[in-house]
Amino acid sequence: MTLRAVRPGDADEVAAVLEQHRDPQVQRFTWIPDPYEQLHAEAFLANAERGWRDGDLATFVVDVGGRYRGTVDLRPEPGAWAEIGFGLHPAARGRGVATRAVRRLLTWGFEELRLAGVTWRADVANTASLGVALRCGFTVEGRVRGLLLHRGERVDGVIATLLASDPR
Ligand SMILES: CC(C)(COP(=O)(O)OP(=O)(O)OC[C@H]1O[C@@H](n2cnc3c(N)ncnc32)[C@H](O)[C@@H]1OP(=O)(O)O)[C@@H](O)C(=O)NCCC(=O)NCCS
Repeated sequence: MTLRAVRPGDADEVAAVLEQHRDPQVQRFTWIPDPYEQLHAEAFLANAERGWRDGDLATFVVDVGGRYRGTVDLRPEPGAWAEIGFGLHPAARGRGVATRAVRRLLTWGFEELRLAGVTWRADVANTASLGVALRCGFTVEGRVRGLLLHRGERVDGVIATLLASDPR
């Protein structure tokens, strides 16, 4: 597995992003257009490129065997902090790929961006995402009622944090 830049002009990559985001788990736990069309996949990859240019979103493709298998990202915030996001193509789940990719992203964030801490937030029902966060050393701070806005409705969420000094 490697972490690399997006390839917005690559038709296979656009097709893989489309498959990933049409998956019911992604539709349930992330706030993305429904129905999710090719133009949304293209915009997702273009936004990843834009984020690097503007410095407000650092997205890496999770590449397994030369194929797009998801993304991991850090959204920098003031005060040497960032919020983490991640998602895998369904074909790559259940093997620890997300955990390894997130660990590598965190090492990059703490070493290269000199972050002091990272925040993770998710729907209370998103146990797969929580599992990744816990395996990577995050500490759950608590459950917050109405934390997240999902398709116009507030849903309960969980917040966890990881400090640069925490074991990973
Ligand atoms: C969140 C998401 C990336 C987690 O994917 P995942 O495949 O469960 O996570 P991992 O790649 O770390 O794999 C963990 C699984 O592999 C197993 N595994 C096997 N080898 C492993 C290893 N070496 N290290 C860690 N886990 C390993 C674990 O036991 C676990 O299995 P389980 O699901 O039966 O408990 C995925 O569910 C997803 O894309 N969801 C939709 C988008 C989303 O919700 N994103 C997060 C928004 S906050």
